[in-house]
Amino acid sequence: MQGMPIGFSPEADAELARLLKVYPVPSAVIIPALRLAVSEFGAVNGDVVNLVAERLGVPASDVLSAATFYTMLPREKTGRYHIQVCTNTACSLLGSEHVVKILEARLGIQCGGTTADGLFTLSEVECLGSCGSAPVMMVNEWYFENLDQKSIEEILEGCRNGTGPY
Ligand code: FES
Repeated sequence: MQGMPIGFSPEADAELARLLKVYPVPSAVIIPALRLAVSEFGAVNGDVVNLVAERLGVPASDVLSAATFYTMLPREKTGRYHIQVCTNTACSLLGSEHVVKILEARLGIQCGGTTADGLFTLSEVECLGSCGSAPVMMVNEWYFENLDQKSIEEILEGCRNGTGPY
């Protein structure tokens, strides 16, 4: 994708136009625009940074700063379901290492990898801001808390057969 001209779909562009009217300054639209870009292009690379900067009329350096700060904005194309397990202090104390091990075993990949069918990508991330319900992970934009083996199995099953809320 890098180096090729890219553009937002008409739907995404209309949403950006709406957001630019709603927010007081264009820089406030950077994160929503990047999230839209992820749903359009699958990841945030240099071309996406430049596209968002141009569309919003903000410096590319500002877009790049935001893109590299937020771990929920993938910089490489992920599987259809991006599982992000928090391994920060509270989650670690309550078993996030075990959560990662279960997921690695069930998916047959290591953290950082994507399953051969392109369905799942597994990542470790910093605090997801839900320490009181640790251990926590996200699947795309959805939070799953107080994880245990049973709930992890159910979440994976929901992704595989389309019965989950995601
Ligand atoms: S430490 Fe895991 S959500 Fe905060």
